[in-house]
Amino acid sequence: MPASVVRMSREPALAPEKQKWLDAFRSVRDETERRAAPLTPEDQIIQSMPDASPIKWHRAHTTWFFEQFLLTPHQPEYKPFDDRFAFLFNSYYVSAGPRFSRPQRGLITRPDAAEVTAYRGHVDDAVETLIRDANDALMAELTPIIEIGLNHEQQHQELMLTDILHAFAQNPTFPAYDANWTLPQSRGAAEFVAVPNGIQRIGHGDTSFSFDNEGPAHDVLINPVSVSRSLVTNREWLGFIEDGGYTTPTLWLSDGWATVQNDPWEAPGHWRREGDGWRQMTLGGERAIDLDAPVSHVSYYEADAFARWSGKHLPSEAEWEVAARAGLLDDAYGIVWQWTRSAYAPYPGYAAIEGALGEYNGKFMINQMVLRGSSVATPDDHTRVTYRNFFYPPHRWQFTGLRLASFS
Ligand SMILES: [Fe+2]
Repeated sequence: MPASVVRMSREPALAPEKQKWLDAFRSVRDETERRAAPLTPEDQIIQSMPDASPIKWHRAHTTWFFEQFLLTPHQPEYKPFDDRFAFLFNSYYVSAGPRFSRPQRGLITRPDAAEVTAYRGHVDDAVETLIRDANDALMAELTPIIEIGLNHEQQHQELMLTDILHAFAQNPTFPAYDANWTLPQSRGAAEFVAVPNGIQRIGHGDTSFSFDNEGPAHDVLINPVSVSRSLVTNREWLGFIEDGGYTTPTLWLSDGWATVQNDPWEAPGHWRREGDGWRQMTLGGERAIDLDAPVSHVSYYEADAFARWSGKHLPSEAEWEVAARAGLLDDAYGIVWQWTRSAYAPYPGYAAIEGALGEYNGKFMINQMVLRGSSVATPDDHTRVTYRNFFYPPHRWQFTGLRLASFS
């Protein structure tokens, strides 16, 4: 009997909507495993700093998310893989119960990577069965949870790459995650273009998926401003370094200057001085700096200081979004997230959703700055013009860069 007939007999045809979600679920879950595949079990344990998490933890936490928010409430017969895992793999959902200390995730050698693989398989099977057996009413309840679960897992896929890069950057042998990895070159023209000004509309306003922090859509006032089509490059950043950018206090915000003094920074993250030049740790191992590539692994403080040194500004997130919607930004997506000068705050009328999932975004709307676009580590189908990423001003282990804005 042909294999296709065997598969058909085991998997009766599903309604197209169910098949779509089953396919999406498998695709995202597979991508997580594809990203983990080059890593050894030892690689998967390490936590190189409190902000980063072990790869094994990402694989388990994204699985716990489906167990906690999809299976337990909607599948009465579901048996958790291991009752202890909720404590280990809950991240920050206070409403979902107690959780293990975040900075100590690297101390958890058990369950090992193989057990996490088994955990993922257990939950995958249960979710697929739940989707198959759901009637229309239940499917309507499940769909938004599956959708946020998949988008959540895609966010962790990005963190898997940035966290393992940070871990490998601590290793004097500079291991390569993927020897063929490269950061895409900037394709943008080095010119400033006027952003449509006056009253403009930003934010997510249709029925397609978005995180709650992207809405409501609302009007903003854009003053006359121009924005660079291109991202700032390593060559430009080297000019900042050689002009004493890191040692000139007048270029820096007070908190930024304190950070530069304490750490101390003299270049972007993962850069290392060697002789007269610089090398950079990448997912392909350590390499000479590519001068034409966009600068990456800079914090908000550094981006702000660079903009001041340039006699320019960072765009606000509204300016960025209006410019992106007008097609003015080259390399908006897929290379580096771009810092904006906007604090991460709720849009007018924003309200977090009810329940534990309301903790997803809203409670972090303090002391962080918004980044727009997406990075080389972002899954391909996880970008939107309204997407609001956010990190604390000193953070620079993500693929974070900048483009400039000018009011002159
Ligand atoms: Fe998470």
